[in-house]
Amino acid sequence: MLRLAADAAGEVPVRRSGPAIGAICLGAAFWLCMASAPSVQAAGGRDVVTHKCSGCHDLRRLCRGLDLKDEKNWAATIARMVEKRGAKLSPQDQLAAYNYLIRQTSKSVPFCK
Ligand code: HEC
Repeated sequence: MLRLAADAAGEVPVRRSGPAIGAICLGAAFWLCMASAPSVQAAGGRDVVTHKCSGCHDLRRLCRGLDLKDEKNWAATIARMVEKRGAKLSPQDQLAAYNYLIRQTSKSVPFCK
């Protein structure tokens, strides 16, 4: 099943000041909910990806995925980075990165050129 690391750890994936979408998306349907969420955090997602997905590997590592991965694949990839690889991303960061990545191709991002 797809879920956030924070869910697994029993943390509440919402900050007091966080966007309302976090509250709506609580629980097991989190990723499903994300998939249907509006791209309110698209701009933030670019920053998250640029700064937090480049710590362990080059961003070019994402390029192939941008053309191949669907929503489910990206959800699984981000969850794996956090749960298995140790990426430090808050649930909000994960949501923002997800909403950004599912809308990009290798041609639309600067780091694949
Ligand atoms: C803590 C280190 C770390 C961070 C931070 C990190 N990754 Fe990774 N990533 C890895 C490692 C290790 C691999 C190779 C093993 C694997 O694929 O799981 C990898 C491989 C990948 C791959 C290639 C494999 C595939 O599934 O296509 C993609 C895409 C990827 N990462 C995306 C991301 C994204 C998106 C982020 C930010 C949300 C991110 N990574 C942040 C460690 C990290």
